[in-house]
Amino acid sequence: MSIYLDNAATSFPKPEAVYIAAERALRETGANPGRGGHQPALAAARLIFESREAVARLFDIGDAARIAFTASATEALNTALFGVLRPGDRVVTSSMEHNAVTRPLRALQERGVEVVKVAADGRGLLDPEALRRACRAAPTRLVVLSHCSNVTGSRQPIEEIAPWCRREGILFLLDAAQSAGLMPIHPEALGIDLLAAPGHKGLLAPPGTGFLYVRPGLELTPLIYGGTGGNSQSELPPEEMPERLEAGTQNTPGLAGLKAAAELLLQHGLAAIQARESALLARLLSGLEQLPGVELYGSRDPRSHGGALSFNLDGRDPSEVGYLLDHQHGIFCRTGLHCAPDAHRTIGTFPRGTVRVSPGFFTTVEEIDLFLAAVAEVAAHPLS
Ligand SMILES: Cc1ncc(COP(=O)(O)O)c(C=O)c1O
Repeated sequence: MSIYLDNAATSFPKPEAVYIAAERALRETGANPGRGGHQPALAAARLIFESREAVARLFDIGDAARIAFTASATEALNTALFGVLRPGDRVVTSSMEHNAVTRPLRALQERGVEVVKVAADGRGLLDPEALRRACRAAPTRLVVLSHCSNVTGSRQPIEEIAPWCRREGILFLLDAAQSAGLMPIHPEALGIDLLAAPGHKGLLAPPGTGFLYVRPGLELTPLIYGGTGGNSQSELPPEEMPERLEAGTQNTPGLAGLKAAAELLLQHGLAAIQARESALLARLLSGLEQLPGVELYGSRDPRSHGGALSFNLDGRDPSEVGYLLDHQHGIFCRTGLHCAPDAHRTIGTFPRGTVRVSPGFFTTVEEIDLFLAAVAEVAAHPLS
């Protein structure tokens, strides 16, 4: 028996409906969407249209055309950052970001963009007043934040930050990699200008899927140029969304899977999914807290958490702990820095890293209990 607790990296397994939809698209739809008027091409385009509509319903987005599909959250974040920031612009971010934000910002810094990082506290939580102060210090074009940390799970108070940015005329980009599909998010109601999300994590879709929501009225410079299936006589990319940001052939099987997954999440309801995940996290947190020698990081309140949680065992290397959980107990967690070195500097675990555990849609209470028993066993018996 094995237990997969690495859903923050990518969710597994996927719902049966996702496997079926992806396979059917690959076997039966086949043609290139938007690249021809024949029936299979139109069927593929329809499938992608329906996938976009399903994602729009899930996020309460009025105009589905404002959603551009991407291959990952990384591509969506790069599209947003390179699409709006110009030399001389100023961007404010936090010390809890994933490299999918930190590295493009570093590249932009080298092109003359000023990057300001606001430090979160030792639990990975950002003080909205500190962020406001940083924004007020000089004219700021954009605030970019991860909604929930992929290291500690800490959930930032975006309900306070996004509307403030809107009032101040500062663009707000949300990295929803660790929250999309795990909790309700309504970008339009909150005043979020740009939202980047993977399809393959909490949204339960296949790898190679993701999207960027761009609020109406905000036009980005494309990151990728090429064919879009229409207006072929022009050397310029189309003005319209989503074609403007979707050059090249789309991932029809992946997006068919995303449609099936979004419909399933709509059926369950994101509030119910969040409540279930919170209950699993509460069990994990209290179980780990009771184990001697466990050092827990981040917030202890499951209500201010995304799906990930980090811990270490006293004096033990996280990779040894991960190895023993994997090889002796068949439990799969991630160890190390999780592509977010700044977050580890913030919570005091750099360069050691942590063991990260992330339950998902299919995780059961029994699996959490088996995991806790396995950690107790590993804590008692170091690799000699
Ligand atoms: C907070 C955060 N942002 C961005 C990403 C990048 O997502 P993707 O793997 O879809 O590119 C991740 C992936 O783990 C993440 O945790």
